[in-house]
Amino acid sequence: MTPATATKKDAIYFHELHSPVDTMVAEVHAGLSLQQKVLSPKYFYDKKGSELFDTITRLPEYYPTRTEIGLLRQHVQEMAGLLGMHSFLLEFGSGSSTKIRLLLEAVRPRIYVPMDISREHLIDSAQRLASDYPWLTVHAACVDYSIPWDIPDFGPGRYNAFFPGSSIGNFDPDSALQLLKQVWRLVGRGGGLLIGVDLKKDAAILENAYNDAQGVTADFNLNVLSHINQRLGADFDTGNFRHKALYNTGEGRIEMHLECTSDHRVRINGNAYRFETGETIHTENSYKYSVDEFHGLAAQADFVPVKVWTDPDGLFSIHYLTAT
Ligand code: TRP
Repeated sequence: MTPATATKKDAIYFHELHSPVDTMVAEVHAGLSLQQKVLSPKYFYDKKGSELFDTITRLPEYYPTRTEIGLLRQHVQEMAGLLGMHSFLLEFGSGSSTKIRLLLEAVRPRIYVPMDISREHLIDSAQRLASDYPWLTVHAACVDYSIPWDIPDFGPGRYNAFFPGSSIGNFDPDSALQLLKQVWRLVGRGGGLLIGVDLKKDAAILENAYNDAQGVTADFNLNVLSHINQRLGADFDTGNFRHKALYNTGEGRIEMHLECTSDHRVRINGNAYRFETGETIHTENSYKYSVDEFHGLAAQADFVPVKVWTDPDGLFSIHYLTAT
């Protein structure tokens, strides 16, 4: 069935589930008005940001992607056995839709629903996937995690969620819980969740992963300012900021900041914001979970752990859980 809201775009259906109200002006203003300035990480992902992010995932220091892909390759048959064949497969933060390729042949979903905030990148990636897998029906949906959304009713069947990349770690535990509850609502009781979660480990390994030698993570972090310049006509000078990433042991998270290197003012949409040397804009967190900590969080959203795979070095975990 083709939902009424779908737009047919070449080989895929496209669903605009992102709020029509542009909240960017208000959110940026609110974040930059706080004592500790913050910007939402969702503004990293314009087209350039999505491309830089793909480069990050291939960096030697950035172990999560490589390790997660290794686990997917090694255990694909067992994962497929748990997910079952011919399900409706929803992906949270599908990005370039690279990892799903490792599962598709084994699980042969009835419909694949990639969901992401980066609209153009989502559509390009979904179209490429659809042309590589002619048997696959693709319904791409542009979503904003901060606002609950519904997917079209595809009818009865088993629903599975795929949530790779430890993106759940980019939400504080409270928001992560809300998001897992959103996953639960979409897959329904009896549905499955296959989720990648980065593990707690030595701070040096973590800090190295977010401070690569080539400076790609720095460019990615700074790109949020260029994105705001483009979208809101702001006058950020990226030369006045530098990338900073550190592991906050107490909170169990990597923090990314943009540290200001000179006293200056930035104008955005008629407002001026003062920046002082040494102060930072907090741009992202990446929480790390032990297996037990993640099980505890998932339990609060009524997900029951079934299986967890980890690599021999204990760097990364993939969990399979069911919605009860
Ligand atoms: N979720 C992954 C992580 O936290 C990927 C990621 C999101 C990331 N934002 C990032 C990696 C910024 C580097 C920099 O590691």
